[in-house]
Amino acid sequence: MSDNLIQMTPELRAFVEEWKSKPGNLIMVLHRVQQTYGFIPREIAIETAKILDVPLAKIYGVITFYNFFRLDKAGKYNIQVCLGTACYLRGGDDIIKGFERELGVGLNKVTDDGMFSVEAVRCLGCCGLAPVAVVNGEVHGKLTTKDVDRILKLYRERG
Ligand code: FES
Repeated sequence: MSDNLIQMTPELRAFVEEWKSKPGNLIMVLHRVQQTYGFIPREIAIETAKILDVPLAKIYGVITFYNFFRLDKAGKYNIQVCLGTACYLRGGDDIIKGFERELGVGLNKVTDDGMFSVEAVRCLGCCGLAPVAVVNGEVHGKLTTKDVDRILKLYRERG
């Protein structure tokens, strides 16, 4: 975790205030937090709990329940592996496990060198290429577990 204290932006504060008394606000607010920082910083989770007047544990309960919320910054290369239906049926899950194994990190965690993170996402809109992974916007399709090494090597060489 960063040593620099992360401040809630005025835009985000206004958004949280606006959603304060609306039903289902927590998910909406957490999406906005992640959109703003790329993950859910602890300082911001604490601040959000105060504004919404909910226990911090409830916020972390939601964050850990849905795997699209991140607690850490993404790696320099964020590997998004599709787990939409087409990709799942063609082994998307094995691709994720392959990346996790090779990198030694679980989903939504960052490797120690800060280079990679792995994320499971829903349909990326290119099901014809299933199973698919997108790395910083670059699409890699028709993957097998043998491609995991090749993809990591490609980005390691880019540095
Ligand atoms: S299900 Fe993976 S791209 Fe559509």
